[in-house]
Amino acid sequence: MAIYKLNINGKEHQVDVDADTPLLWILRDHVQLTGTKYGCGVGQCGACTVHVGGYAMRSCSLPISQLGDQAVVTIEGLAENGDHPLQEAWLEHDVPQCGYCQAGQIMQAAALLQSNSAPSDEEIAATMNGNICRCGTYTRIKAAIKTAADKMN
Ligand code: FES
Ligand code: FES
Repeated sequence: MAIYKLNINGKEHQVDVDADTPLLWILRDHVQLTGTKYGCGVGQCGACTVHVGGYAMRSCSLPISQLGDQAVVTIEGLAENGDHPLQEAWLEHDVPQCGYCQAGQIMQAAALLQSNSAPSDEEIAATMNGNICRCGTYTRIKAAIKTAADKMN
């Protein structure tokens, strides 16, 4: 066990865990941020996507010892009042079905719009490709990303 200091959603946290503890478990079990979901646990579904140092990453596959001093942002910290343009567009398009994958979908899309404010259909498809939705909400996800991009430009 070792002490690790983390910045999550702008707040400082300290945890005493094994070096190979995945960031996802820190988020869910140590700081009670349960918006980030566990899907496959092996980096294949995207349900656990958060931002690390400004980039979308699979928190299930990131050991705490590799985090360094990079800031973490989860779905709870994306916008103070849950009113990020993507979150508003998600509501507008009624995107979720069961909802399980959706925090990961939004965080992946938010990282895309940070680096590319007007993505093409192909760029959206390429970026969102690794975020699996067993309910098949892909068409609404793409529409919502385009709506959010329009609002942000
Ligand atoms: S739970 Fe992390 S990618 Fe599936
Ligand atoms: S909304 Fe059910 S898995 Fe995506």
